[in-house]
Amino acid sequence: MKTDVAIIGGGPAGLLLSQLLMRAGISTVVLERQTRSHVLSRIRAGVLEAGTVQLLQDAGVGERMLREGIPHDSCYLTSDDTLMKIDLMEACGKQVMVYGQTEVTRDLYEAQDAMGATILHEVSDVALHDLTGDAPFVTFRHDGADQRLDCSYIAGCDGFHGVSRPSIPASVRQEFEKVYPFGWLGVLSRTPPATPELIYANHARGFALTSMRNAMLSRYYIQVPLTDRVEDWTDDAFWAELLARLPPDVAASIVTGPSIEKSIAPLRSFVCEPMQWGRLFLCGDAAHIVPPTGAKGLNLAVSDIFYLSRALIAQYSDGNDDLLARYGQDALARVWQAMRFSWSLTKLMHRFPDQTDFDRRMQVAELAQLAASSDARRLFSQVYAGLPY
Ligand code: APR
Ligand code: PHB
Repeated sequence: MKTDVAIIGGGPAGLLLSQLLMRAGISTVVLERQTRSHVLSRIRAGVLEAGTVQLLQDAGVGERMLREGIPHDSCYLTSDDTLMKIDLMEACGKQVMVYGQTEVTRDLYEAQDAMGATILHEVSDVALHDLTGDAPFVTFRHDGADQRLDCSYIAGCDGFHGVSRPSIPASVRQEFEKVYPFGWLGVLSRTPPATPELIYANHARGFALTSMRNAMLSRYYIQVPLTDRVEDWTDDAFWAELLARLPPDVAASIVTGPSIEKSIAPLRSFVCEPMQWGRLFLCGDAAHIVPPTGAKGLNLAVSDIFYLSRALIAQYSDGNDDLLARYGQDALARVWQAMRFSWSLTKLMHRFPDQTDFDRRMQVAELAQLAASSDARRLFSQVYAGLPY
């Protein structure tokens, strides 16, 4: 088998890259470990930055998002029972789009099918070879046979547990990590959202978040200890804890119901430098992980794909490899800004097990500054709605 760009991983990053490259006449093969239904069963965040909304439209997969997505001009932060509005449009002239990552992935798969894309599912034993030469290749097993894919470039879009990042020698890699001392228990319910906008709640009992997918599909989260297991939480216990962490008038508007999905996710910040080595380019979760506070994970994957697709198209259209040479530098500049924002908002909105009274006063002071200063809200909004690429 031979292709221009081998893409490891058929999640949102890999699929979006394949879609953009194929539209530019560059051939791709996507190698995905799981079945398509498994990939589409994942429930992830659902807030798209303005840049993500635009790039999905540029890729020809924006139609259902524009039809079914919910534009949001603002979000809310609480400190105990005080509710503060962050008016994104007023602060930075941008809005975000609430549209589930699962739907983005579904739209990408359908568009790739329509283009006749080569996406191989249930591949195993993927290994990357000759990355520092000009003829890299990938070996893997598929349909019970050993396979080889010759290519010119490899995009590592295989997530945090993939094979791409470890294919960069440990002596070359520098990894930065922070693991948070709590997780998020998330529930999806076929109930109307409590409020039209998202509410990030800082409460003495812990963080909570109210979000949604559509007018009859709500998404809620509460901070839980790392020792908790999802089976420790009945639906009733979840709803009682969520309501206890929200301002009374918000709690009164919560419509409870059976969970159709319930899971606990750990929180970490992680960055791998460099994001490229020879003909291998890391994208998305393969290169970096953010805590979900602020929903930067998918949006960072999309911005990596913006930089890499632009660089590969420049290479194939006029032989200019300047952008390829600086891909990691360009992507990381934006990654670190989103990394800082996600870390800062996590620090601001959660109650840490070892938190001192002074730490709490720092949270109160920062929230008071956001409430009082339009400049503070502008800086917050610029990153929340998405920095320019
Ligand atoms: N070979 C082939 N495919 C692999 C391998 C492998 N060795 N390892 C992992 N994969 C696949 C996974 O099954 C997954 O479908 O790579 C894909 C990686 O997709 P994601 O983990 O979704 O990562 P990414 O596309 O970068 O999207 C980032 O997804 O997980 C969320 O929170 C994350 O919102 C962020 C977004
Ligand atoms: C979600 O809707 O799942 C969501 C929204 C905002 C976040 C995290 C998750 O910060």
